Amino acid sequence: MGLVTGTCFAETGNDVTCVDIDAGKISKLTNGEITIYEPGLEKLFLRNLKENRLHFTTSLSEGIKEASIIFLALPTPPGEDGSADLKYILGVSDELGRLLTDYKVIVDKSTVPVGTAEKVKAAIAKNCTVEFDVVSNPEFLREGVAVEDFMKPDRVVIGTTSERAKKLMGDLYAPFVRQGNPVIYMDERSAELTKYAANSFLAVKISFMNEIARLCEKLGADVDMVRRGIGSDERIGKRFLFPGIGYGGSCFPKDVQALAKSSAEVDYEFEILNAVMRVNEEQKLHLIPGIKQYFNNDLKGKRFALWGLAFKPNTDDIREAPALYMIDALTAAGATVCAFDPEGMKNVKATIGDKIEYAGNQYEALAGADALIIATEWNEFRTPDFARITNSLKNKAIFDGRNLFDLAAMKELGFYYQSVGRATIK
Ligand SMILES: NC(=O)c1ccc[n+]([C@@H]2O[C@H](COP(=O)([O-])OP(=O)(O)OC[C@H]3O[C@@H](n4cnc5c(N)ncnc54)[C@H](O)[C@@H]3O)[C@@H](O)[C@H]2O)c1
Repeated sequence: MGLVTGTCFAETGNDVTCVDIDAGKISKLTNGEITIYEPGLEKLFLRNLKENRLHFTTSLSEGIKEASIIFLALPTPPGEDGSADLKYILGVSDELGRLLTDYKVIVDKSTVPVGTAEKVKAAIAKNCTVEFDVVSNPEFLREGVAVEDFMKPDRVVIGTTSERAKKLMGDLYAPFVRQGNPVIYMDERSAELTKYAANSFLAVKISFMNEIARLCEKLGADVDMVRRGIGSDERIGKRFLFPGIGYGGSCFPKDVQALAKSSAEVDYEFEILNAVMRVNEEQKLHLIPGIKQYFNNDLKGKRFALWGLAFKPNTDDIREAPALYMIDALTAAGATVCAFDPEGMKNVKATIGDKIEYAGNQYEALAGADALIIATEWNEFRTPDFARITNSLKNKAIFDGRNLFDLAAMKELGFYYQSVGRATIK
């Protein structure tokens, strides 16, 4: 999030210095090597690096020296009890307090619980002699379309009660909202809650559809039809109604958990969120019983081709990816897995190493496999060469966690085809 934010602010002519404690990352970025896969980012990154508007350093004092606005894009991972761990945010705030020599705006861009702006303010104020403001400016970009989202946000939320900070932030964001999308000013607490409310609502929408999909399977309905039937109602909307094998990534799981935890801390049980977390845990393994059933409950020695590792397409992010949960379940049952993902394999290799095999392309993964499993809806998986799939697999069986294929077509091709919320083609 920090790299996208920094690059996009440089793109509108600002001078940006990105600070990170990871010296390896900083050295790569300084040398023009991008450290994440995000469509469109590399071009902007290289252009702004060349134009000398984008700089990288491991030194916080050097990074903030000339800055008028300092964005905190630090991790806020779940702590042991599920609440957001603020040690990175407050640690850096503490350091900042010692370093500030003139007025600056410090912006919480990380997703942080209600009340964090006040904590950041207190941590800075402890050692600080100059004036400063703390603003809550949550980020709504989606991985995979992060640059597009950042350059043309649906809205910008700015939480501050300081007129001085409001003016600086408004000027900074003006080039991004020229089409008229709103910059919504509010107090810090409301801004902090807005981000959690947005992600939690989307997680509710996904999980609701996943439950409808389960019901479809039991009742003999087709979730694709139901999805279209309800999505054309403007109050519901067409987006985010696709069932699948659960949400993953670095945001939804941790943010839903953190909001549930924040609620519990003020003696409020957020019942819907508790249900969403349960539903999503189960959904990640939704395909497994069907796979086991197909192989007469014995996966020992079976080999699976797995298409997709990233938690969603167009990213190399594998944090909380449903594919990893499936890998655990399959290997625990004695099966082997050969996976292919266009961008996610490097990160998976670094995490689970040779627990699975990695293929050079999607067809290579099929060689000698007993069946194909699809975990991520990369576009290149949507219209595959079914003849090659048929020739490579031992059984003509596909277990599709993302509903990529048409049921009638699969029937005609003669596949055993299990998807989510639709009839299994046998
Ligand atoms: N990833 C997204 O799509 C997204 C979208 C919106 C909001 N967010 C929020 O943004 C925040 C960051 O998420 P991310 O996915 O970019 O995390 P990330 O882990 O990819 O990046 C965080 C970076 O902070 C660096 N860091 C850690 N401690 C530091 C320190 N003391 N000084 C300087 N740098 C330090 C890490 O080395 C890392 O490079 C989280 O709160 C997340 O919820 C993320």
